[in-house]
Amino acid sequence: RAAAQVAGSAFNFPEVTAGVDADHHVAEGYDADVLLRWGDKIFADAPDFDPANQSAAAQERQFGYNNDFVGFIPLDGADDHGLLVVNHEYTNEHLMFPGIVTIEGDEIVVADATKERVAIEMAAHGGTIVEIRKADGKWQPVLDGAMNRRITATTEMELTGPAAGSDRLKTNADATGTKVLGTINNCAGGVTPWGTYIMAEENFHGYFMGTLPEDSREAANYERVGVPDESYQWGRFHDRFDISKVPNEPNRFGWVVEVDAMDPTSTPKKRTALGRFKHEGAESVVAPDGRVVFYLGDDERFDYVYKFVTSGTYNPDDRAANMDLLDDGTLYVAKFAEDGSVEWMPLTHGEGPLTAENGFDSQADVLIETRRAADLLEATPMDRPEDIQPNPETGRAYVMLTNNTRREEANAANPRVDNAFGHIIEIAEEGGDFTATSGTWEVLVQCGDPSVAEVGATFSTETTENGWFGMPDNCAVDAQGRLWISTDGNSPSGTGRTDGLWAMDIEGAARGTSRLFYRVPVGAEMCGPCPTPDMTTFFVAVQHPADGGDDWEGFGRPSYYEDLSTRWPDFDDAMPTRPSVVAITKQGGGTIG
Ligand code: FEO
Ligand code: CA
Ligand code: CA
Ligand code: CA
Repeated sequence: RAAAQVAGSAFNFPEVTAGVDADHHVAEGYDADVLLRWGDKIFADAPDFDPANQSAAAQERQFGYNNDFVGFIPLDGADDHGLLVVNHEYTNEHLMFPGIVTIEGDEIVVADATKERVAIEMAAHGGTIVEIRKADGKWQPVLDGAMNRRITATTEMELTGPAAGSDRLKTNADATGTKVLGTINNCAGGVTPWGTYIMAEENFHGYFMGTLPEDSREAANYERVGVPDESYQWGRFHDRFDISKVPNEPNRFGWVVEVDAMDPTSTPKKRTALGRFKHEGAESVVAPDGRVVFYLGDDERFDYVYKFVTSGTYNPDDRAANMDLLDDGTLYVAKFAEDGSVEWMPLTHGEGPLTAENGFDSQADVLIETRRAADLLEATPMDRPEDIQPNPETGRAYVMLTNNTRREEANAANPRVDNAFGHIIEIAEEGGDFTATSGTWEVLVQCGDPSVAEVGATFSTETTENGWFGMPDNCAVDAQGRLWISTDGNSPSGTGRTDGLWAMDIEGAARGTSRLFYRVPVGAEMCGPCPTPDMTTFFVAVQHPADGGDDWEGFGRPSYYEDLSTRWPDFDDAMPTRPSVVAITKQGGGTIG
């Protein structure tokens, strides 16, 4: 059924057919143009991408790997000219480097890392800030843009706020506990009302190897976040990623990073006031009294939903006055009650159990061990909180809970055991005020295939077989207050469909109706999504195409460099598949959706 026929819907576009193949697909009447690919030049003098001869020096001047968060910061209020800010969450060695994969029986074996390979990976992490401009209806990067910048796992950063300078953040290389090299695993993020770029550090645990000294204070702290993990081999070449050698280094990651995108010489700030955990993102909104509220998900099974409220107020007339708002405020964690109310509990040193008796000597300790503090407050363990998006028009916020197949006991806010497909919660803050410490909530939708009764999906009956999805991850509220959701985890074998971008009605008779607008190539995850303020462009990020695509019958191949399941977007045998940012526009111009 065409979207236009759904009574009361805020959307009117022909739905894409869900499915799986090597290409991406957008709704009829729209163009989806690749804007930036891994390896593309970010500076006019950057070297061309040469996948067979990669180097860290080249990667530092080129677009990084695995684009996740995408933000658009208009320049001079324009809708056709601005800065695109993009997180590069992580690296997939088997998809990046030729000749490092061998097949032994059914096993895909990746060759041990080399120092140069690690250096390339570190340069492929972080973020990109690049000026972009629309000319003749098509977006292009401006390679001589004065604000263009690559941020990597070695960029010098400053720790600020209440935990800065704590003994627990000091290392031999940094006796002050305020200087860190780099940011890692930046998943989603945000753009603040004053135009800074927020990068959230998510799965930082995977980069640390080694063992802690027996008497270390950090044992319980690191166990709670999964350090060490050894997904990456960086610690073999860099002592700071080996906790046997630099025991405090993991305390310097897991923060929210704020970057002044307008000043390419600025030092990115790790804002400790927003807590340390596996930060999915940090989307913000200005409350009626001018304070700014950041919604924060901690993406792990049974972890929590947080928000941060600044002490100071936003000054729309003086950008400089807002630049340190994130150093002072209150961090809250959510308790979702069975009666449909939500309580925001402050994580403040000295209040309740957050005292020296429980190992919290200061606010710095509360922030460094945010999860343990929230455990003591008996916050509600959730089904993997991902992106959370406030809707400034309604005083509501949308929480993506991606899945949790280990849930054995349901509760009202996490209503399904073995929750394979995730759900979305809508929070209505008291009085529509985002700073409120209480509110109400309801489940907007339980995700999954509505035609399979045992799944228990609750999309509206107007939702077509293409319109349902599982595993909500990122989301956006556009200028018209409409909700868009991107997914991570729909797979050929699991759902018979790839990830994509879905439009979801949240108001009126069509509430709970979802429809597919864009879908990604096999193996990819859908990130972004970022509409321009005038809604004539939607930027989306296609992350890790071809990864795990081996379970798709018809491609039937492990996703290693020489024999990928898709070569999107170049479809050139000399090119690996490349994570890319795509700009979606309406043919002939006009508002999307
Ligand atoms: Fe990086 Fe929570 O997804
Ligand atoms: Ca995510
Ligand atoms: Ca978002
Ligand atoms: Ca995810």
